[in-house]
Amino acid sequence: MGTENIWLLVIWIFLANKCESFSTTTEATLFSNTTEWILDYTDIESKFSLRTADVPDDDLCYIVPGQPNTVSECKFNLETQTFVVIHGWTVTGMFESWVPKLVSALYEREPSANVIVVDWLVRAQQHYPTSAAYTKLVGRDVAKFVNWLEKEIHYPWEKLHLLGYSLGAHVAGIAGLLTDHKINRITGLDPAGPSFEYADEQSTLSPDDAKFVDVLHTNTRGSPDRSIGIQRPVGHIDIYPNGGTFQPGCDLQNTMMMIAATGLQNMDQIIKCSHERSIHLFIDSLVNKQQESMAYRCSSKEAFNKGLCLSCRKNRCNKVGYGVNKVRTRRSSKMYMKTREMMPYKVFHYQMKVHLFSPDKLSFTEQPMLVSLYGTEGEKEDIPLTLPYLYTNTTISFLLTTDVDIGELLMIKIRWEKDSYISLSDWWGTNKFKIRKLRVKVGETQAKVIFSAKEGEFVQLVRGGKDVVFVKSKDDESSRKEQRLHKLKMNGSLFKPNTE
Ligand SMILES: *[C@@H]1O[C@H](CO)[C@@H](O)[C@H](O)[C@H]1NC(C)=O
Ligand SMILES: *[C@@H]1O[C@H](CO)[C@@H](O)[C@H](O)[C@H]1NC(C)=O
Ligand SMILES: *[C@@H]1O[C@H](CO)[C@@H](O)[C@H](O)[C@H]1NC(C)=O
Repeated sequence: MGTENIWLLVIWIFLANKCESFSTTTEATLFSNTTEWILDYTDIESKFSLRTADVPDDDLCYIVPGQPNTVSECKFNLETQTFVVIHGWTVTGMFESWVPKLVSALYEREPSANVIVVDWLVRAQQHYPTSAAYTKLVGRDVAKFVNWLEKEIHYPWEKLHLLGYSLGAHVAGIAGLLTDHKINRITGLDPAGPSFEYADEQSTLSPDDAKFVDVLHTNTRGSPDRSIGIQRPVGHIDIYPNGGTFQPGCDLQNTMMMIAATGLQNMDQIIKCSHERSIHLFIDSLVNKQQESMAYRCSSKEAFNKGLCLSCRKNRCNKVGYGVNKVRTRRSSKMYMKTREMMPYKVFHYQMKVHLFSPDKLSFTEQPMLVSLYGTEGEKEDIPLTLPYLYTNTTISFLLTTDVDIGELLMIKIRWEKDSYISLSDWWGTNKFKIRKLRVKVGETQAKVIFSAKEGEFVQLVRGGKDVVFVKSKDDESSRKEQRLHKLKMNGSLFKPNTE
């Protein structure tokens, strides 16, 4: 923990000592009811560069509001959709390396689209609170730009998708708020937290800013307003990968390896590993269409980590990133998912539920297990897992993930590892639970399967013992249910076609 705090400290040296809320911006003119300002292009400081698939990393042609000739000069395609990419706060005053990556990924998925990068680097490289306050003026610039596209160039609003990272997410929100039509979609990529956690909806990204607002939260560790990414939900769908706090592969060990490999010049990127993960998750959804990640609605990350939230009923699950289903669920709906530590990020989620029984009163906490899954398409062995507690005569539920598609699950092995020290009770051989059935729910397929002991009526899970083996039950409850449903369908009684 201590070392992680050092990183936070470094970030906070980069940031500011204090993060006051906005006071200096021109609140009155910003939200005045006159519409004159939006047609005044003279004070726009942000630049709008139409990047190309061939040169994704350089600004070769700017579209200038008020100058219709720039639209044709840059070969802006009026027929296709437009992505507007908005960067965040920057230490170096230069575009970060993710910008061309995202531009390329957008073109890879939608080759005929227009990808526009907003350049507000000058305002973005100030003292953090100053740059944070500038989001209002930059949002105004973007609002003028898209308003001009629609009013003068007759570009349709429903083809506009703004993508904003960090402070850029709030810029997109303000732009959406200030335009009288609704932008089709805003994607917030780990919207910035400091100065915004407690700010009102007019200053931050919010569900009112576009017809559909989806948000990825990847770096929300720490107390509110100290966390780099905003913690509260700000969209129609807010996804918290790996709990949203911190991302796998961004730990100190990886950081050290990256410093060893690339030196200190990439310091800001190393520090922002979890923050920037939001962008790479979105890029993943663009380029790895066949490996779409799923997220699941859940009341808390603790409940999700117990595997309790893998349901897809009533829009409880959704695809992550570009292919999201645009369901406008009630506000504050948080969704969770696990990921790998590198692209492709997709994992398969399993809930496992067992009842532990024993004649003896046993109680353990933080127990290490190794679980192996065998399926029709593949297998994944020795997945490590720590179970928070094991008590006699209780049912435990836990979440397990694999990065391989094992197909339909056929067999499961579990081994209860023994931590290094030997307790007295080990000698008495009492450290074992009996398990009769193992219930499994698969998030990605929504399959529910019951497993039972391969041999005998139950297995004996022994601490430090051998693998226990479960196989798919012959009289699987759920398959019986399916047969029953099938029968009813065949009889044409209860089900009409396409009721789903
Ligand atoms: C603008 O607001 C002012 C005061 O809030 C009000 O008196 C005025 O009628 C409004 N104008 C329009 C065009 O809505
Ligand atoms: C657990 O339940 C079983 C059967 O229900 C019972 O025989 C056993 O005594 C219980 N164990 C304890 C420690 O209460
Ligand atoms: C339809 O229902 C009837 C009465 O419940 C039953 O006897 C019959 O076997 C069913 N048919 C099929 C195809 O399941």
